[in-house]
Amino acid sequence: MSAGEPLIGLGVSGGIGAYKAVEVARGLQKRGYAVQAILTRNARRFIGPLTFEAITRRPVITTQWAAGMNADIEHVALATGMRALLVAPATANVIGKFAHGIADDFLSALYLATRAPLLLAPAMNTVMWEHPAVRDNLARLVARGARIVEPGEGYLACGWVGQGRLADPDDIAEAVDRLVRSSDRLAAPGALTGRRVLVTAGPTSEDLDPVRFLGNRSSGRMGFALAQEAMRRGATVHLIAGPTTVEPPVVSALTRVRSAADMHAAVMAQSREADVVIMAAAVADYTPAGGAREGKIEKAGPMTIALERTADILADLGQRRGGASMPVLVGFAAETGPPAARAAVKLQEKQVDLIVANDVTAEGAGFDVDTNQVMIVSPSGHTALPLMSKIDVAGEILDRVEGLLTSVSATQA
Ligand code: CTP
Repeated sequence: MSAGEPLIGLGVSGGIGAYKAVEVARGLQKRGYAVQAILTRNARRFIGPLTFEAITRRPVITTQWAAGMNADIEHVALATGMRALLVAPATANVIGKFAHGIADDFLSALYLATRAPLLLAPAMNTVMWEHPAVRDNLARLVARGARIVEPGEGYLACGWVGQGRLADPDDIAEAVDRLVRSSDRLAAPGALTGRRVLVTAGPTSEDLDPVRFLGNRSSGRMGFALAQEAMRRGATVHLIAGPTTVEPPVVSALTRVRSAADMHAAVMAQSREADVVIMAAAVADYTPAGGAREGKIEKAGPMTIALERTADILADLGQRRGGASMPVLVGFAAETGPPAARAAVKLQEKQVDLIVANDVTAEGAGFDVDTNQVMIVSPSGHTALPLMSKIDVAGEILDRVEGLLTSVSATQA
């Protein structure tokens, strides 16, 4: 084994799937990684350290307190050296400890001591997998940036049939490889230096009268994550945000707007110089006909409110761009149900480069959460991404935007 092979920390916790972690280690080696196995006390009830030692050709870490292990600093050395931490299988117990920062053994202390990205391959009984405590803990970890390789469905060792079985070892190794490669890209912070990126975020409020309005449940988090990640990549970011309670990130310029009409005016004015426009805002499609009433509407019998369509900002941007390739245009589509087909139609109708679509009824993908599960639709097809934090989704979108900017520069050169 050469010193140059990137190192993966492989935590194995105590589930019946522990024996499959050997195959995961093999899959990682096949992809060019060195593997440092860490077995929890309960994992050792299922599988012996010798098996891992023979495969990984490294001493296996089984305790924080082994003689000669330089006990209290070993986890720090490994923490800085490894490129990713994988836990396969991850039991409900390990997930709970990571979520709450409990560090009572080597693996849980390693999690706190590292900045390496975390990937969890959970395996447990179906009822445990569905338990709100486990769901909450996973959601916390995903919001912190962890990736999950979902367990498969089938016949479980405990006799149940359902979801909970450790994912296929090769899929797990593949997910680690993808994660390491995407965090390698993250190491290049200046990829959007010199680019002007306009991002919209949040809902719009359509006033009915001085005290009432029509709004929607958008929190602004997805647009804020995009603005933050574009800043990190060196872009000059102008954020146009509707009324949100969540604080926007630090950006080059922030414009606050209220209604769809305000947002339309701000975007059309500010986008002339932009290289990229990302419409993550949930812009109202309808507004009270004739505008807001001047005085407060008094109650009487049943009431009907007439609404009229707002102008479609994204479609107007697409139309203004015409046959040109700049600015790069990205839209969102919130669907209730499988989003691919409708997103493809929106892509064409609005003449944009990418539509980021999600099913807002899917768990972890709706409003007011830190996670999202999206499908990115482009003229060449669609890619379904797994459930991830909104900042990771932002990274995936901006990776594609960078690709589009590069190909535009290449054709203009
Ligand atoms: N959008 C816009 N101007 C509007 C309405 C929407 O720019 N007046 C943008 C949104 O910011 C988003 C995309 O268009 O990027 C959403 O398109 P839309 O056709 O409104 O789809 P949905 O919101 O998914 O709603 P529906 O399916 O009802 O059309």
